[in-house]
Amino acid sequence: MSKIDYSQKIPNNVDLFDDRRLQRALENWQPAYLDWWNELGPVESHDYEVFLRTAIDVSAKGWAHFDMVRMPDYRWGIFLADKEEDRKVNFGAHKGEAAWQEVPGEYRAELRRLIVTQGDTEPASVEQQRALGRTCPSLYDLRSLFQVNVEEGRHLWAMVYLLHAYFGRDGREEAEEMLQRHSGDVDKPRILEAFNIPTTDWLSFFCFTYFQDRDGKFQLSALAESGFDPLSRTCNFMLTEEAHHMFVGETGVGRVVQRSAELVKEHDTMDVAQYGGIPLVLIQKWMNFHFSVCLDLFGQEKSTNAANFYNMGLKGRFQEMKIDDDHQLDNDVYKVPEINGSGIIRTDTFALTAINERLRDDYRDDCQRGVDRWNKTLTGAGIDFTLTLPHQAFHRNIGTFADINVDLEGNIISPEEWDVNVGNWLPNDEDRAFVESLMVPVTEPGKLAGWIAAPARGIQGKDPDFEYIKFH
Ligand SMILES: [Fe+2]
Ligand SMILES: [Fe+2]
Repeated sequence: MSKIDYSQKIPNNVDLFDDRRLQRALENWQPAYLDWWNELGPVESHDYEVFLRTAIDVSAKGWAHFDMVRMPDYRWGIFLADKEEDRKVNFGAHKGEAAWQEVPGEYRAELRRLIVTQGDTEPASVEQQRALGRTCPSLYDLRSLFQVNVEEGRHLWAMVYLLHAYFGRDGREEAEEMLQRHSGDVDKPRILEAFNIPTTDWLSFFCFTYFQDRDGKFQLSALAESGFDPLSRTCNFMLTEEAHHMFVGETGVGRVVQRSAELVKEHDTMDVAQYGGIPLVLIQKWMNFHFSVCLDLFGQEKSTNAANFYNMGLKGRFQEMKIDDDHQLDNDVYKVPEINGSGIIRTDTFALTAINERLRDDYRDDCQRGVDRWNKTLTGAGIDFTLTLPHQAFHRNIGTFADINVDLEGNIISPEEWDVNVGNWLPNDEDRAFVESLMVPVTEPGKLAGWIAAPARGIQGKDPDFEYIKFH
C-alpha cells in the first residue's frame, strides 16, 4: 500500500485507478491547479531545473527521491500514510468506536470546515512567498524555498483529495474555491489573517518557516488524531514533509544569528548594519512579529467550537495518546489567561473549552527550543544578548488580548505607550527598508549573501556549493 504509483496522471497510493469517477473529478481539477501554480506560484521559475525531493513511498524511512526537476513538472499527488489496523476513535464522545472510514453524516459540516481551513493555508503560503526567488541569498536557499513551495502545493492536493473523495459536490466546490481565494486579495482573501501578509524578505521567510510552518505542525498533529481515518492518514504523511520546512526555518534564522554574531565579534559593535549584517535587535523584532501573528492562528482561549470538534472526535490534542487522562475531559480543568484588573492571571476553566489554549501552549514550548539553540550560538560567541519569545498577550488580534495593549513582558500599557514603543518592538518602515536593501540575489554556486552564514551541510549528501538550481 505504501508504494506510490507514478504511472498515473495523478501519482497516488490510494488506488485512484479503481475509482474512475473520483479520478476524473481530480483530473479535471488538475489543470486548474497548474494554471494557479503558473500564475501565482514562484515568479520566473518555470524553466529552472531544481534539485527537489519527491515522495516515492510513505514509510518512515527513505520515502524521498531527489532529482533535477522543472517545477511545473513536479509530480504533485495523493499520498496517505499506511492504514493502522483496527484503529479506534481515541478521544471524545465516541472514544473506543472503530475509526470512521466515511464521513459521519452528523459531523459533515464541521469536518469540511476543518479541512477547508487547513487546505486554504497551503496555497496561501506559496502566494505569500512567490517573489522571494528574485532575492535568494544562495542557490542552496533558493532550493529550500522551492522545495517548501512544491510541498505546500502538495498539501493542497492532500486536502483537495479529501474534499473530492468524501464530500461530493460541495467538496468539489470547496476545492475550486481554494484556487479562487488569494493571499491579500481584497475581495477574496485567504481565510486566516496570517496568510494574507506577503513575505517580502528572507528573514521573514525563515521566520515564516520557523513559526508559521510550526503552527502547521501543531494543527496537522491535532488533525492526525482525528477519528476520521482518511484525514488522520493524510495529516500523518504531511507531517513528515512539514519537518523539513521547520528545518529550513530553524537553520535559516540560526545562520542569520550566526553571521550577525561573527560581525559583532569582528567589528566589536552590536551595530552590524554598517557591515552588511542584520543587527540582533532586528532579528528579535522579526521574531516578535511572526510569533505573535502565529499565536492568533490557534483561536480563542475559550472555544465552544474547539470543544465540539474534540467531543465529536474530529480534532484532538497534540500527541493525544501520550496524555495520561481519560481523553474525554468531562471533569478536567486547564489554566487559561485572563485579564484581571491591571494584570494578566491564569485561571482554571473546563479543559474541553480550553483545547485551543492547550495547543497554543504546546506550540510555544516547541518554539522555545529553537530559540534556545540560537541563543547557544550567541553565548558561544561570548555575546551578551538573549533572543526571547514575547509574552503571549503581546500584539494579539484574536481572543482575550485583542483589545488591550501589552508590552513584550506582558505588562498592560496604554494606547499612548504602545504608539511610542511599537517601533522598538515590531519591524518599522526603516527596519523593513534596511533588511530589504540587503536582499540582493546571489545565484553563483557556492557564493553567499553577506548577511547569512553558510549552511553546515548540503542537501542529500551534496556539498553546500552544489549547483542546486540550473537556470535556462
Ligand atoms: Fe503545509
Ligand atoms: Fe509547511
